[in-house]
Amino acid sequence: MTSSSRGNWGSKFGFILAASGSAVGLGNIWRFPYAAGENGGALFVLIYLVSILLIGLPILIAETALGRFSGKNPVGAIKAIKPKGPWKLLGYLGVLTGIMILSYYAMIAGWTVGYFFKAVTGKLKNITSANAENLYNSFTGDTLLQIALLTFFLLITIYVVSRGVSNGIERFAKVLMPGLLIILVILLVRSLTLPGAEKGLEFYLKPDFTKLNIKVIISAMGQAFFSLSLGMGCMITYGSYLRKKEHLPSATAWVVLFDTSIAIMAGLIIFPALLSQGMDPAAGEGIMFNVLPVLFAKIPGGMIFGPLFFLLLCIAALTSTVSLLEVATSYGIDEKKWSRKKSALIMGAVTLLVGIPSVLSYSEVAFFKKLPLLGISFFALMDKMWSELSLSIGALFLAIFVGYVWKTSNALKEITWEGAQKFRFAAIWSISVMFLGPILIIAILGMFVYNLFF
Ligand code: PHE
Repeated sequence: MTSSSRGNWGSKFGFILAASGSAVGLGNIWRFPYAAGENGGALFVLIYLVSILLIGLPILIAETALGRFSGKNPVGAIKAIKPKGPWKLLGYLGVLTGIMILSYYAMIAGWTVGYFFKAVTGKLKNITSANAENLYNSFTGDTLLQIALLTFFLLITIYVVSRGVSNGIERFAKVLMPGLLIILVILLVRSLTLPGAEKGLEFYLKPDFTKLNIKVIISAMGQAFFSLSLGMGCMITYGSYLRKKEHLPSATAWVVLFDTSIAIMAGLIIFPALLSQGMDPAAGEGIMFNVLPVLFAKIPGGMIFGPLFFLLLCIAALTSTVSLLEVATSYGIDEKKWSRKKSALIMGAVTLLVGIPSVLSYSEVAFFKKLPLLGISFFALMDKMWSELSLSIGALFLAIFVGYVWKTSNALKEITWEGAQKFRFAAIWSISVMFLGPILIIAILGMFVYNLFF
């Protein structure tokens, strides 16, 4: 069941590449800086790192193990262990969350495509920060163009997903990582040598504990899950393609290392550049698009690196959108018995419809721009609800499921390939999955809800 009909990763390296392909994406370069900027900078970064180590990595191991054990999509994986009862709702939540996140994630990916074309056609040449903002506003406000870009990005995603897992995703991931890293290093050097860069570094690296509140904590934890593609079954689906003989903990540790370093680097680029231009770090989801073009304009060869960067970011986004759609698609294949093509198409079409109100958040339609009562845009609501809350809830129940229903002893058998392989941190891992992770997530979610109402 596992290997023939659903594809198998070429090697452990293949899994690392593909899982990193899912993890590394707009979440690192677009979302991480904007969430950090809105939440006070360094303190957010600190909590994000702690969340990755204490909860993220252990849950990543749990998800991957569950996937490899069952060889199924999230719903199927849970049913394989607990056929009866409400647990399979957790799998459905994952499928739903995947589609919801994809709906606005693909919109931002569409922005990246748009900026790629702007960069290629010289529209970003000699751009200043004031121009950059105007450009951004008129671009995101062009509703028809935005719907076209969203559709375009979803179509490519559907195409890759319908071709199947190993001959699609893995190939993309291979070219991506090295190329992206090289351009990031170039950007990093330029950003850090800008006059006034130290203000950015201070904002990004020196925590101000007076800013500590529950919103910062929940955003940082949510970002940790989002960035590692956790809490919605994505890594269950990917784990189901990892071979039994590969060492699971080290494979996942590599994914975390790649993902976290790229996010940290993105912050090191964005904040010095942003603050040296006197821009507001809390300006929201547009900061990457407002800062980077200006930075490229200041780099020798920026007219080459700019387009190349946006192209690589498009590919990084694609390897993530593919993983988001893969969850829903493999659910359709395994549980609804659809063909891969049909499943990808249906799920993609639903996603497009859900995405349109997010696009309208930047239009003249006041309702979507500023939702009544909430006062934030439809996009902002979706991003908070699914990227932060839903993933945290998913991760919580996943930890409980693995810890208490499947049981860590069984999970450890899978992780160590029936004891044939060593897992030095087995005890710490069990404690994290059974106690530390769930307790922390419950406490944080609980405080958040309390704050919302009282
Ligand atoms: N981790 C991806 C990113 O950082 C986004 C993602 C979230 C992908 C959840 C799959 C599942 O860009």
